[in-house]
Amino acid sequence: MTTSEAERLEALWAGRFGDEYVERNLGAYDERRGFWRSVMASVKPRTVLEVGCNVGGNLQWVAEKVPAPNITGIDVNQRALAQLRSRVPGVNGVWGSARDLPFEDQSFDLVFTMGVLIHQPDESLPEVMDEMVRVAKRYVLCGEYFDNETKEVHYRGHSNALFRRDYGGLFLSRFPGTLNLSFRGLLTQADGFDDVTWWLFERAGQTG
Ligand SMILES: C[S@@+](CC[C@H](N)C(=O)[O-])C[C@H]1O[C@@H](n2cnc3c(N)ncnc32)[C@H](O)[C@@H]1O
Repeated sequence: MTTSEAERLEALWAGRFGDEYVERNLGAYDERRGFWRSVMASVKPRTVLEVGCNVGGNLQWVAEKVPAPNITGIDVNQRALAQLRSRVPGVNGVWGSARDLPFEDQSFDLVFTMGVLIHQPDESLPEVMDEMVRVAKRYVLCGEYFDNETKEVHYRGHSNALFRRDYGGLFLSRFPGTLNLSFRGLLTQADGFDDVTWWLFERAGQTG
């Protein structure tokens, strides 16, 4: 049996490489508070899902506005999920793959990724985007490394593990008439991110 690229990368994140990421970044999330405060103020979600949540460096700030039982994070790395549960007590930490989200259609007001689509190979990126949109009731947000063309970037000794792409453009061309672009911006180190482009989409036909 051959291992797909998607399985190879998920195994990488689930194993020692992913554990080392957890340890390296445990204290790295304080500056993100301002960004999440402003997103929560404009979106006002009652339920939130982060796909590839790691230790909760984003969800800890979401939890200032949304009760923890209404927050779910899914990840393939168990050590990250253990940290998430202690950082955000009461949160739903789910072990699983972004390619097959174990949730009902339109079950979260806001579904987002931060630095996760960049780690999906071409073969499974559409599946992951489809899953995000399927489970999102109203808003989809992603913050990822941008380029106009897909560019593979060597990442910590690994090839084909990180891809800059026009993620916003990919969502808009894959979901015409379903998603509308609400906002696009850049997050720098002052915001707790590393020159990440973020896009907020709203499902068409939503009001109020
Ligand atoms: C670069 S980290 C970003 C973590 C977090 N979103 C943040 O902003 O700090 C990528 C995370 O996505 C997870 N991940 C990568 N591919 C995944 C997949 N296919 N399904 C679920 N989780 C995945 C990794 O285990 C890791 O926790």
